[in-house]
Amino acid sequence: MDYQWYPGHMTKSIRQMQENMKLIDLVIEILDARIPVSSRNPDIDKLAQGKARMILMNKSDLADPELNSAWVNYFTEQGLNPVLTDARKNHSLKSLTPKIMEACKEKIERNKRRGIVNRPIRAMVAGIPNVGKSTFINSFTGTAAAKTGNKPGVTRGKQWIRLNKQVELLDTPGLLWPKFEDQTIGRNIALIGSMRDEILNTEELSLELIKLLAEQYPGSLNKRYGITEEGRPIDMLLSVASARGCLKKGGETDTEKAAVILLDEFRSGTIGRITLERP
Ligand code: G4P
Repeated sequence: MDYQWYPGHMTKSIRQMQENMKLIDLVIEILDARIPVSSRNPDIDKLAQGKARMILMNKSDLADPELNSAWVNYFTEQGLNPVLTDARKNHSLKSLTPKIMEACKEKIERNKRRGIVNRPIRAMVAGIPNVGKSTFINSFTGTAAAKTGNKPGVTRGKQWIRLNKQVELLDTPGLLWPKFEDQTIGRNIALIGSMRDEILNTEELSLELIKLLAEQYPGSLNKRYGITEEGRPIDMLLSVASARGCLKKGGETDTEKAAVILLDEFRSGTIGRITLERP
């Protein structure tokens, strides 16, 4: 299957991001912890050149805890200041302000030397669709945050949310798009549900999932559906269908329905906490 992505507003969004970048000290890149490589856009390194960086490995509640730690180590080594988050829960975001200050310490030092003190750090959130950018901005800023409004002359039309004395956040996130350097990336994006399912072949996608689970998480399908993890992926899909009583009107096995169940239960974490990529 060919995985497709139709970003309609690519050029506009990149232009906007470039423009906003001038005002930014820190770029907070959000990715999906279940696919930490595929959910990044390599262009962000170019866009964010010279800026402090931070990575939020969001949806970490759905990802494999062991691999979460392995990826945190990996991104730390790259100087990207990773933090594991569940953007829906603001308690998971509590420790973020000190980490933001840490990520920006060079900038703060530079300002100090120039006699600039108490200037808040200005941050922008960026990431591909569906990784949780809006959810993050909403929970992180909460109700306490006040919009600082337009700053005439400087940031016309842009809304800054003042989090506290130290940090201001641009209220519109920078939208990037997945970049398919190979089909694996497309497949991964489709698997976590960030591609419209209508343009996908659900059954084929579920067979990919079965293959990956049997390889990387042996036992997980057996545990959830009581099936034996042997034979071809299609045999396992048929087993899932019969385990779940997926039948068409004439009594024929409904693999399409089983595929939908599998994908839904994978995406919601019901099959377990699963990460598809390893550092
Ligand atoms: P975006 O702005 O980057 O496009 O993403 P958005 O915040 O709209 O989030 C996409 C979906 O992911 C939402 O679910 C949101 O609730 C969910 N989500 C965001 N962060 C997390 C997280 O850390 N963990 C988990 N498990 N889910 C997260 P939705 O079903 O599209 O909407 P809703 O029904 O939850 O409102």
